[in-house]
Amino acid sequence: MNRIERLLSSMTLGEKLGQLTMTACGYAVTGPTIAGDSTAAIKSGAIGNLLNLVGASDVHEMQKLAVEQSRLGIPLLIGYDVVHGHRTLFPVPLGEAALFDPVAWELTAREAAKEAAADGLALTFAPMLDVSRDPRWGRSAEGPGEDPWLGTCIAAAKVRGFQGDDLSKADALAACAKHYCAYGPVTAGREYASVDISERTVLEVHLPPFVSAVHAGVAAIMPAFTDLAGVPMTANTAMLRGWLREKLGFNGVIISDYNAIAELIHHGIAADKPAAAALALKAGVDIDMMADAYRHGLPIALERGLVTLEEIDAAVRRVLELKERLGLFDDPYRRGARSENAADLQNRRQRSREIGARSIVMLKNAEAALPLTGRVKRLALLGPLADASAEMRGPWWGAAGATGQVTVLEGLRASFPAAQITHAAGVPIADDDVSGMSAALQCCEGTDAIVLCVGEAAAMSGEAASRAHLGLPGVQRAFCEVVFARARQLHIPVIVVLFSGRPLVVPWLIEAADAVLAAWFPGSEAGNAIGDLISGRSSPSGRTAVSWPRAAGQVPIFFGERPSGRPAAAGDHFTSKYLDVANDPLFPFGFGLTYGKFELSKLRVTPRSASQSQSIEARIEVANGGARAAEETLFLFTHDVLASVARPLLELRAFGKIKLAPGARGTVTLSFAASELRFLGINLQPVFEFGDVEILVGPCADRSKLLSAVVHLVP
Ligand code: NOJ
Repeated sequence: MNRIERLLSSMTLGEKLGQLTMTACGYAVTGPTIAGDSTAAIKSGAIGNLLNLVGASDVHEMQKLAVEQSRLGIPLLIGYDVVHGHRTLFPVPLGEAALFDPVAWELTAREAAKEAAADGLALTFAPMLDVSRDPRWGRSAEGPGEDPWLGTCIAAAKVRGFQGDDLSKADALAACAKHYCAYGPVTAGREYASVDISERTVLEVHLPPFVSAVHAGVAAIMPAFTDLAGVPMTANTAMLRGWLREKLGFNGVIISDYNAIAELIHHGIAADKPAAAALALKAGVDIDMMADAYRHGLPIALERGLVTLEEIDAAVRRVLELKERLGLFDDPYRRGARSENAADLQNRRQRSREIGARSIVMLKNAEAALPLTGRVKRLALLGPLADASAEMRGPWWGAAGATGQVTVLEGLRASFPAAQITHAAGVPIADDDVSGMSAALQCCEGTDAIVLCVGEAAAMSGEAASRAHLGLPGVQRAFCEVVFARARQLHIPVIVVLFSGRPLVVPWLIEAADAVLAAWFPGSEAGNAIGDLISGRSSPSGRTAVSWPRAAGQVPIFFGERPSGRPAAAGDHFTSKYLDVANDPLFPFGFGLTYGKFELSKLRVTPRSASQSQSIEARIEVANGGARAAEETLFLFTHDVLASVARPLLELRAFGKIKLAPGARGTVTLSFAASELRFLGINLQPVFEFGDVEILVGPCADRSKLLSAVVHLVP
């Protein structure tokens, strides 16, 4: 008998349920404590997993209780939300998506894993893989953006990065892909609200990133808080047991979201905790995070005959297997045994700076306002986000403190050491206090340029941060308007640095500014990353991973829409359009300016007819006619022109990058497997239909900017 079976055969029901229980830690002056319970629960085996505990010595202290003082000595599994870094923060995921660089996506997860593992942790509640097409939903900031295929690329890179090549290593974290699935399309973008979308959209749009995570070997999955057409994910047997376990063969651990099992009562599908626990267990949830429904409810559910001991054992087995794979039985103190050296930390900060700069999307640069060069002698730095260390973290700041992020003020001082920088916040982020406005205007006198840092606070995106108004909060708009007016009088440019966890609907701001950098939340090195771009030390290359709306009324907005029977036509009244705003986004998916001036030509696609087993390759020539070196990103989309089920107007299949010096030209090759052109037919079964498929290549999801060719699909 192996270790796990031996353990299982000697465990009491209470000890088994302990392995299915995850409880949050709090901190008392004396050290870590467990909310609502005592450390006695660990010693008795009633709690087998923890969350929200960091620091090697605290983690080891709790681990010691389990290993040395519980009857069976089973180590604890300790998890934390290491979402975009741990102590060193990288850009928020939506910002990082803008890199379109799988190597970078993997690297930041690897670095975060090293840092978190050195803190004693073995599990992260990441990656977050919820496709989001509605910026009202604050959690858009945590995920991969609007496109399912992009989500699959990010999923694979993140799982590789967090888990490394061997889960038992001292620097590996078990990844937990979340939130499975279709959490993004909550009704009206409102957090935790009901989801009711077609099965096709679930399978085509929301499932693929999770399929990719499973294929990459993800150790755990967390169901979403939400329901899908009346069946909460936490109790969704068809999605958990059916899809995850049976169809995809996922045999890792399913961990509920925080208190989600008890919330089945609020959803209206369980009368009490034992019933809720039974529903979740039966659906496939192994670990109960924070509801205490398994621990206290499953014994009653057993008595009621709602669950069987075999079902409990199967869940316990999976949890023990994960602990074994993590090497926790062999050495529960492996993670956090050594602290990291200073050189590693410094290197990580440097990576955060580079990746921070590459995540920033330049939305506008009129008359080459950027970069500001050495000729700038005096600079006014304004806005409530100019000197805001804590905000630079964005939502989910891991274990990073409120101080310690490089602010824009610090970054600009370092980037322009010879310049005189005057600084004022002007107004707060969200309140309506205007008393600082005149001092801020005063700062502009005699300066060569204004850098205006506005946007959302970190906590305005992320969990429980839906917004119905997608503009600047507080009185920031009024402030910006007086700054623009003064700048026009002084004939100096205004560079806007916009911080947000979502695309903000601020067309007036983009119109009035000379240059706009969408910075998202860049993390620990925010100010340096921004300073690098503003000073020209780095060249902007980020491309938005979400369509950027003109008006909040356009959302949900995304490039992968299906065609209408009455496509929008100018001058034709009865077509699919608004009376008061254009259909297209202000900036399409993939948009981002560079310092280059790229021209595309000679798209060659081979083969011209392809069967399912072939790979389709597109080559395109790129020339940089601009005056500065820059990096261009190219996207390959397809459009299946005629199919048994209407296909999206554009589907992303590949992306690639090329760096070109001024005057230089090069070739970009993008390819994908023709089998990717399979889709779910009328009966939701995969079909490969013959006929024409358009291949479109270009800088963003704006059809007018794409070169195209046609491939004929054959048997
Ligand atoms: C709730 C969030 O939905 C989830 O993403 C997170 O991992 C857990 N809380 C634990 O913090």
